[in-house]
Amino acid sequence: MRRKKDRQDYYYWQAKKLGYRSRAAFKLLQMNKTFKLIKEGDWVLDLGASPGGWSQVAVELGSKVVAVDINPMKPIEGVTFIKGDITKPETLDEIRKIREEFDVVLCDASPKITGKWTIDHLLSVDLARAAFNIAKQTLVRGGCFVVKIFQGEEIQNIFNEFKPFFRFRKFHSPKASRKSSAEIYFVGKGFRKP
Ligand SMILES: C[S@@+](CC[C@H](N)C(=O)[O-])C[C@H]1O[C@@H](n2cnc3c(N)ncnc32)[C@H](O)[C@@H]1O
Repeated sequence: MRRKKDRQDYYYWQAKKLGYRSRAAFKLLQMNKTFKLIKEGDWVLDLGASPGGWSQVAVELGSKVVAVDINPMKPIEGVTFIKGDITKPETLDEIRKIREEFDVVLCDASPKITGKWTIDHLLSVDLARAAFNIAKQTLVRGGCFVVKIFQGEEIQNIFNEFKPFFRFRKFHSPKASRKSSAEIYFVGKGFRKP
């Protein structure tokens, strides 16, 4: 059964109405409008992709998508799905079997929430670092990287780690993120190897 919070949620109903698999789809739509991340013909790597809202948006924007999640995902036309854990090195091997380079790497992966702020923060930092490790090895020069992180004490360290690799870098909270949520997105554009 859906939680009351979800039933009352504007983006939840919009997602249902427009056929998106998650309300999260609107976060990517909003970030893409603000930062112009995905162009027609791009190859997009979507990490932590299930149930597939971000992949749907990326396909709609005219890109080809490789999606990865530890959980299954129902097929989407134009999306190649890998069931894998982004913290495991073999997942990068699986990605590379399909495509070596991507114009955009996205990561909306969330850890299993414990309810303890610091633990959830540190678990999300581990996922963000795993996504960045994959991004560093697959992004084209000039590419874009977006990753979700739950805010906490490591946030500035993460920013300092990612910063030298991007011409443009910023933390951003899209309107579709819940006000009560600790999540924030690192947006990096213009990938370069320092
Ligand atoms: C908030 S959901 C992503 C929603 C998605 N962006 C959408 O629009 O449908 C977070 C996802 O991260 C996945 N995830 C968590 N840890 C992961 C890991 N280590 N490797 C791959 N996926 C992971 C979860 O299984 C979950 O499906």
